[in-house]
Amino acid sequence: MPPLKQATLHQLAVFEAAARHLSFTRAAEELFLTQPTVSMQMKQLTKTVGLPLFEQVGRRLYLTDAGRELCRTCEHIFEELRQFETLVAEMKGLKQGYLRLTVVTTAKYVVPRLLGPFCRHYPGIDVSLIVANHDQLMDRLGANQDDLYILSHPPETMDVACQPFLDNPLVVLAPGDHPLVGQKQISLVRLVEEPFIMREPGSGTRQAVQKLFSHHGLKLKVRMELGSNEAIKQAIAGGLGISILSAHTMALEGHTSQIACLDVEEFPIRRHWHVIHPQGKHLSVVARTFLTYLLTEGKVLAREGVQ
Ligand code: PGA
Repeated sequence: MPPLKQATLHQLAVFEAAARHLSFTRAAEELFLTQPTVSMQMKQLTKTVGLPLFEQVGRRLYLTDAGRELCRTCEHIFEELRQFETLVAEMKGLKQGYLRLTVVTTAKYVVPRLLGPFCRHYPGIDVSLIVANHDQLMDRLGANQDDLYILSHPPETMDVACQPFLDNPLVVLAPGDHPLVGQKQISLVRLVEEPFIMREPGSGTRQAVQKLFSHHGLKLKVRMELGSNEAIKQAIAGGLGISILSAHTMALEGHTSQIACLDVEEFPIRRHWHVIHPQGKHLSVVARTFLTYLLTEGKVLAREGVQ
């Protein structure tokens, strides 16, 4: 074994303290050792190195060149150990950790289902899943309140790490017995004659709908505004009007649904969910693991669920 490998970590820790204080007495106090123990450890270390590490001039202690070099080496060793400790703490965090997610309302039809297999695999991880509209999510992102966020329209004014995750098409929904059901390529001009049920201000779905119609110089006849996709579906089924929602909102509807999807020109509006977090944010090991899961297995599971 090369001679220096015989130096113990304990000896190096004692040396580091003695070199920092330039005093065996103060190193002993810091490490709760006796002064003779420190002297003995330094004697053994000096013997292992084969060169003096300290020199005494008068009553003062100085580091020799070899001592200064060993000091630098100790800094590297202890820094590496600190990093390893952090890593281990994070790895333990996978057994017991916390994942904070905020997703837009449309993603609530998919993300909880993806969390199932993930949580089964890591039973010690607790998850908080907040469902919010686009603007509320942006507020949380701005305040750095969560680990990861899922939304369709990533912010342009904020520096975020952003990965597309899954298609989120917007479709036109009408009551199952509506006269337009079954017609092909209904024009937007015809569509705006229908009473429309709109999502609340702050909704990304609403923004996308308004953008399309204002692009064509058309104005929707908004009959009511509702703050939830589910409430809008109930209103459509109740014959109150038509609306435009994410196709995912229909995921659990089945064939007997009282709601039908209309075939309209320019539709579906093609959007994608993105998973984002502030650029430069240090993601916990739990968040990193979930992100990888989302972009690999999660993506496949979600697609299967949608088809
Ligand atoms: P929201 O969702 O309408 O619930 O705000 C928008 C989105 O898909 O990003």
